[in-house]
Amino acid sequence: MILEARGVTKRFGGLVAVDNVSFYVKEGEIFGIIGPNGAGKTTLFNVITGFYEPDEGRIFFMGNDITGKKPHKLAKLGLTRTWQIVKPFLGMKVIDNVLVPIYATKGIVTGLDERDAIERAEEILDFVGLLHRKENLAETLPHGERKRLEIARALATEPKMLMLDEPAGGLTPKEMDEVMEVVKKVRDSGVTITIIEHNMRVIMNICERIMVLNFGEKIAEGTPEEISRNDDVIKAYLGERFHARS
Ligand SMILES: Nc1ncnc2c1ncn2[C@@H]1O[C@H](COP(=O)(O)OP(=O)(O)OP(=O)(O)O)[C@@H](O)[C@H]1O
Ligand SMILES: [Mg+2]
Repeated sequence: MILEARGVTKRFGGLVAVDNVSFYVKEGEIFGIIGPNGAGKTTLFNVITGFYEPDEGRIFFMGNDITGKKPHKLAKLGLTRTWQIVKPFLGMKVIDNVLVPIYATKGIVTGLDERDAIERAEEILDFVGLLHRKENLAETLPHGERKRLEIARALATEPKMLMLDEPAGGLTPKEMDEVMEVVKKVRDSGVTITIIEHNMRVIMNICERIMVLNFGEKIAEGTPEEISRNDDVIKAYLGERFHARS
């Protein structure tokens, strides 16, 4: 078990965005989090990765209690996330987008050599299939490539666990498949993955286990087969909020 959340609750005023949610992620797996629009998925990510403090509950990463720890501290421990709305430095070259987190993670502490840093950045860009784009400005990349650049920037922090918030959101089916190939490669390289995803085909294909949130509560957890047969899940996904989105 690499990550464990116990009874995590996050409120915004009267709204309980995450309601007493407990789950764990096993080392080396791809763990999926699904649920209708507004179910609390991103809020749960924000709490786990230190952007919000939970109102209740505790979070453990690799045996350490990380509740309330700040994002940069968590990145040092090996826990990194990406954002639903991608945030690359658009006015910077693709390679510089990857060099920034490399230096932020390593350079200052170890006095990382510039040549080594560039080599590492190129290695990561090659890994996500963007090496040919290294000299382009990030703003010139199509959406699917921006999502892969976002993953490259997260990999530059050398995570043990990567949390991906809808990495396939708004992509064409072809771009989606390309991003998911990268996600599988990242896992195969030894990084545990937790992924939020709306597309059922994608999530059912890629995950070992899935947790389903609805109105902040965990309503189901299991293998893709178990989840797809679960009555509560089917009900939640037949609701209007899901149709409005997809
Ligand atoms: N900073 C905030 N302040 C107030 N309410 C918030 C805040 N962030 C999220 N919420 C509310 O919390 C609930 C859960 O939102 P969240 O973004 O976590 O859902 P989600 O499952 O990620 O949805 P989506 O699929 O649309 O990304 C929603 O009702 C949302 O409006
Ligand atoms: Mg979200």
